[in-house]
Amino acid sequence: MIKNIWKNPKIEYIGDIAIIKPPFNYQDENELKKLANKTLEKNKYIKSVWLASSPVEGEFKIREYKYLAGEYRSETIYKEHGCSFKVDIRKVFITPRLSYEHLRIASLVKSGEIITNMFAGAGLFSIIIAKKSKPKLVHSIDINPDAYKYMVDNIEINKVNDVVIPYLGDSKKVIEEKLVNSSDRVLMPLPEKALEYIKYAILAINKKGFIHVYLHVNSKKDEDYLSLAESMVKEELNKYNITYKFINSKEVRPVGPRLYQVVVDVYIEKN
Ligand SMILES: C[S@@+](CC[C@H](N)C(=O)[O-])C[C@H]1O[C@@H](n2cnc3c(N)ncnc32)[C@H](O)[C@@H]1O
Repeated sequence: MIKNIWKNPKIEYIGDIAIIKPPFNYQDENELKKLANKTLEKNKYIKSVWLASSPVEGEFKIREYKYLAGEYRSETIYKEHGCSFKVDIRKVFITPRLSYEHLRIASLVKSGEIITNMFAGAGLFSIIIAKKSKPKLVHSIDINPDAYKYMVDNIEINKVNDVVIPYLGDSKKVIEEKLVNSSDRVLMPLPEKALEYIKYAILAINKKGFIHVYLHVNSKKDEDYLSLAESMVKEELNKYNITYKFINSKEVRPVGPRLYQVVVDVYIEKN
């Protein structure tokens, strides 16, 4: 008998890998193995089952996993919006929960734009933009050597070598050294660093353009967390010699109890 807690287990699918996400203090190995085997039986396309055993954390935004069932393999091909991404769930950040946001940003990109993606991971935003819109270039930066390696592979797999340029390093340094005044649009999909790095997003913008700032916002009851996100961004933008306008603010996804990932789209002009 599967215990109550597993009646509606949270399972995420990345390619042919299933990830079980229990409460992090849940330790019953036997129950977990039973659920993993049941997941394999029920979904013939799933080949490997892992337990997410820690939250996403650290500079590279990855988590700990424990092997549960099927093939002992954590690398897979994840498909989104007609693109294929080779990823190792133990080495790079990956979630299907950004899927809508990837497409939303791609739909905003106009033909000929030059884009800088400051926190690119395995290249999802960059490659989907390159495939769906007609950017001139997408500068795609990540500090995690494994994310960089997968991004390079994914650029090849999706045949966007002439558009997406991968960089390994701290986006702050890459922008200062190579991308000052280079871009029409900058993506900042790392809520923990977005405010600190706004200065470098502005540096990358060529006279005028758009910045997409991702934030985590704690919302107390009845609080307008979108206004709160805008005021956080405003406080930071006011430090620089620019004029700016908020274009749109929206929830990307809930990330915890009363905690939301929010994106603020800003248009800026350098004075
Ligand atoms: C939330 S993940 C990005 C997700 C990715 N954009 C996607 O759509 O799948 C954040 C990424 O930022 C990278 N990162 C963290 N600090 C960085 C920095 N200072 N410069 C560049 N990349 C950084 C991490 O290695 C991680 O891959």
